[in-house]
Amino acid sequence: MKTLAAFWILVATLFAPVLAQDLRPPFLLTGALSRDSQDLSGQWTYSKDLYRTGLTDINGWVAKSRMQRYRDIDVAASEAKGGADFFEFDLDRGPTINVPGAWNAAAAELRYYDGLIWFQRKFRAEAPAGKRAFLRFEAVNYRAYVYLNGKEVGRHEGGFTPFVLEVTEALRAGENRLVVGVDSTHDAQSIPTFITDWDLYGGITRPVRLITTPATFIDDAHIGLRPDGRITGEVRLQGPQAANQAVSVAIGALGTARAVTGADGRAVFDLAAPKGLERWSPDKPTLYDIRFSVAGDTLRDRVGFRTIAVKGNQILLNGKPLWLRGISLHEEEFGPNPARNMSEQASRALLHEIKHGLNGNYVRLSHYPHSETTVRLADEMGLLVWSEIPVYWTVDWDNPAVLRKALAMQAETIYRDRNRAAVILWSVGNETPVSPSRTRFHSAMADNVRQLDPSRLISAALLVKHDGEGSSIQDPLVDKLDVLAVNTYAGWYGSDTLDAVAKLKWKVPADRPLILSEFGADALAGYRNDGMKKFTEEYQAEYYRKTLAMAENIPTLRGMSPWILKDFRSPRREHPVFQNGWNRKGILSETGMRKQAFGVLADYYGNK
Ligand code: GCU
Repeated sequence: MKTLAAFWILVATLFAPVLAQDLRPPFLLTGALSRDSQDLSGQWTYSKDLYRTGLTDINGWVAKSRMQRYRDIDVAASEAKGGADFFEFDLDRGPTINVPGAWNAAAAELRYYDGLIWFQRKFRAEAPAGKRAFLRFEAVNYRAYVYLNGKEVGRHEGGFTPFVLEVTEALRAGENRLVVGVDSTHDAQSIPTFITDWDLYGGITRPVRLITTPATFIDDAHIGLRPDGRITGEVRLQGPQAANQAVSVAIGALGTARAVTGADGRAVFDLAAPKGLERWSPDKPTLYDIRFSVAGDTLRDRVGFRTIAVKGNQILLNGKPLWLRGISLHEEEFGPNPARNMSEQASRALLHEIKHGLNGNYVRLSHYPHSETTVRLADEMGLLVWSEIPVYWTVDWDNPAVLRKALAMQAETIYRDRNRAAVILWSVGNETPVSPSRTRFHSAMADNVRQLDPSRLISAALLVKHDGEGSSIQDPLVDKLDVLAVNTYAGWYGSDTLDAVAKLKWKVPADRPLILSEFGADALAGYRNDGMKKFTEEYQAEYYRKTLAMAENIPTLRGMSPWILKDFRSPRREHPVFQNGWNRKGILSETGMRKQAFGVLADYYGNK
């Protein structure tokens, strides 16, 4: 009887609705970019470990010490003494690599390496002396195993969201040895799985910082404008003095709110929007200096205040109908050999083409959370953002552990970006084939978003049914979405002629806003004057003209994010003349050369 009870308890635990508070990571250090920190970017050494000997030995036994890359030892000094001990690695004398950045772009031997590599960075620090010390990784793709001075300090799964590890105990005065095992392997239970249409990009792909805080500090702080015109938010303290603390929130020079933390270290505040508060919008992206203060700690942020809502088949920004003039974007800098090293300069170059080249006001940051740098630039430049986690194509829909990963990834994204006015849409999936278990999975994701952030809209890039006569959405998930979105490729994939595309009729709900989340065609930049063959710039430009003509016939269309701003690396695309490992649907080449279609879209948006 006991066994049966234990079984049902296990089932209930596995399928119990995962509550938002369960998904909050132990530490967030929201707004860490504004804190004093030691940036550990730069030259790290690395040691390949394709057979994962640094983690486990044969038969899954504990790794042999001579292969444990994370050990806090000076291998050369040990060898100089002679004796029986020997090692089969040495991170002190390893080759170097630039962090942040994916290893695939760093060395020919790593171009298609997919597996485990160990990285090391030595750095000097002071003893914490009553403060607390944390390592914050902005992103490691895909799994991270983190050791400081030979001690494991934490692990993380997920290639696109930040994580924070406390190292107060492991940090020492003087020289410290940080070793990070990075495993880029994806499998049927990862998110995304091993099936994607973008490059491997394994590595420490965003900055790593050492951050010290007071013993009691502000771990998370949120502020936003509600539809009723009030400003609300919360501050969460961590530490021995977190309870019953006076907290203040200054909104530029416009006003200050005060509150007191409860026993859980959480304080909520709610005040009427100060007079003179300017709403944030793409045309006027006003940001205010926000200062969250508590005895001993201050956290600063720059925040825009706006409202976003759906009313019938309209999307309303600050109460006015909005039309999203956008484009999709992968996180990949301009250049012939991108390393997904999205510096502010690299990101600004891409977003500038959208805002000023295309007359755009919107960007779909696909298919995963992009760097915080990019989202903050969207705030500053005035670009609205669609944000998504890589629940893409196929995922192990029936696996509760996989669902929990997706919900945790959503939470990590929302906690990082919920102060960003630019973000208006959380998407719960991309082109996932309809099935009961897939719809249950996405519905749980939609419920999770609603719980974590009721202020923003929910969407998903759905598959569309083309029957020659017309296009329709046949997907039960629509009932969980505020904004419908579809990826449509008639005229590129399939047999529709471009003339037929322009005449396609869309049968979509009249009472819901619709976005064309993707449409696109490949073109090799410079391949011109060869009739209207596919892969010519002329074909891509005409494809855009006809698809935009089709778009004009969709009465509930409220925006679009064509696929895609820039050619991007993908091992799926190997035509030796036109592709060579690049998906050529960009309207810019990988080096930023404008194709003819760029002008077609820019003119269309210019007249919107
Ligand atoms: C799909 C998918 C993209 C992919 C694109 C393509 O819609 O969402 O990730 O790159 O099609 O086929 O180029």
